[in-house]
Amino acid sequence: MPRVRVHQHVNPLAPYFRFVPKPIELENIFANPELPLFLDLGCARGKFLLKMAEMFPDQNFLGVEIREALVTEANRIAKERNLTNLHYEFCNAMVALDKLLENLPEEFLQTVAIQFSDPWFKKKHAKRRMVNAELVETVVKHLSDGGKLFVQTDIEFLADEMFELFRANENLRETEINENPFPVKTEREIAVEEKNLPIYRKLFKVKR
Ligand SMILES: C[S@@+](CC[C@H](N)C(=O)[O-])C[C@H]1O[C@@H](n2cnc3c(N)ncnc32)[C@H](O)[C@@H]1O
Repeated sequence: MPRVRVHQHVNPLAPYFRFVPKPIELENIFANPELPLFLDLGCARGKFLLKMAEMFPDQNFLGVEIREALVTEANRIAKERNLTNLHYEFCNAMVALDKLLENLPEEFLQTVAIQFSDPWFKKKHAKRRMVNAELVETVVKHLSDGGKLFVQTDIEFLADEMFELFRANENLRETEINENPFPVKTEREIAVEEKNLPIYRKLFKVKR
């Protein structure tokens, strides 16, 4: 099967991407909806989650991605591999994550990962960045007490901007880390490490 070709970036503020997604129902997407849930925002082709779901059958993995063709293909592969603990959703997390997670029990998420989200370098495009105050609020609302939020990027100014947004939340405690805490690296992480470029990482833990 050839690799699905998609636009490198899509404008999340374009009318097409301002749709309201149907809230997920865990029992419709996972064989065992009670398992701890890991959410990866901006999962692209979902390879990171695919490997994680194979390694950790005792957890559920949900990927969220704005490029629909990648989501369709990632779900096809998950099905082909009989991974009933893995699912991907087409959603613009910047504007609609709250709606997507609306029916999730509060404080249910165990882990959230935000890895190399699109930087939108120009100041005039800052509003297109996925991590904003609303997204932080939604994520923290759904994370369990003791839940973890892992953020990494190779863009220093974007790291500072995101870390400040997370620090501003009174329920998050910051932890210094030098390594990705998971046994799998994302596609972007591998590419950045191959170029020997720095990666800025933080792990935040929820304490209510
Ligand atoms: C640079 S890629 C990194 C992908 C993957 N996390 C990795 O580390 O290899 C950023 C991904 O975030 C997705 N993305 C950007 N803005 C988004 C949004 N508002 N909602 C959902 N996904 C988004 C992009 O389409 C892209 O697939």
